[in-house]
Amino acid sequence: MLGTLVASELDRAKAVAARAAVDRRVRPGLSLALGTGSTAAFAVRAIAERFPQGGFDCVASSRATEELARSLGLSVRPLAAADSFDLMIDGADEVTPGLDLTKGGGGALFREKLLAYLSREVTIVVDPAKLVGTLGERFPIPVEVVPFARAPLERELAELGFEVRRRTGADGSPFRTDNANEILDLVPRSPLTDPGATDRTLRDHIGVVETGLFVGIADRVLVGWPDGRVVEKTAPPRPRPAAERRR
Ligand code: A5P
Repeated sequence: MLGTLVASELDRAKAVAARAAVDRRVRPGLSLALGTGSTAAFAVRAIAERFPQGGFDCVASSRATEELARSLGLSVRPLAAADSFDLMIDGADEVTPGLDLTKGGGGALFREKLLAYLSREVTIVVDPAKLVGTLGERFPIPVEVVPFARAPLERELAELGFEVRRRTGADGSPFRTDNANEILDLVPRSPLTDPGATDRTLRDHIGVVETGLFVGIADRVLVGWPDGRVVEKTAPPRPRPAAERRR
């Protein structure tokens, strides 16, 4: 069935997953970290529709999400020193059976990872096309890099065995993140058997700001299907030291 899903069906699946996450996990008064991308946008719209009175304390992982949330009447503020969040809802580019993720197709991976780190629960909403066996299988691994370091990093990351693609915007110029950095998309030449180790190896390179490998971060994944079904998967409980410290 997966191979036959067209864009409108995938959109329906994303909307179904996002709506279910809001119905099941969002309660008035929560502090919310808002993700980025088309599925996260469905979740933001669902929050605004279901809770028109608002009352949430929100921080967004991108300017795009911030603008969308504000346009729908949600109040969004900058990140503060003592912040932690009850819940983050976000999308993903790939999800493994163990709930590890590839993220960053929208270029917001750094802010997404930081907000996830500060959240007591991370709920991910996806359509079934995002389900993979191993990370890097269907989607390159985005890495946010400082522009000054981009050229040597392209060589170093290629030497690690990746095909390195510089992300560009519609006009062909380098894509810029909300942090004014660039993105290198890495295509692994073989499956990532230990994505946590790959993440650490990549982050060891000077000039790498963050990677789109989200290993052991998702608590819950809701997979929406075009026929309205939602399959919910949960990870074993894990400590959230950063989020708890800031309570
Ligand atoms: C944004 O940087 C990403 O991490 C998105 O969450 C991811 O690319 C999923 O996006 P879609 O929901 O648009 O597929």
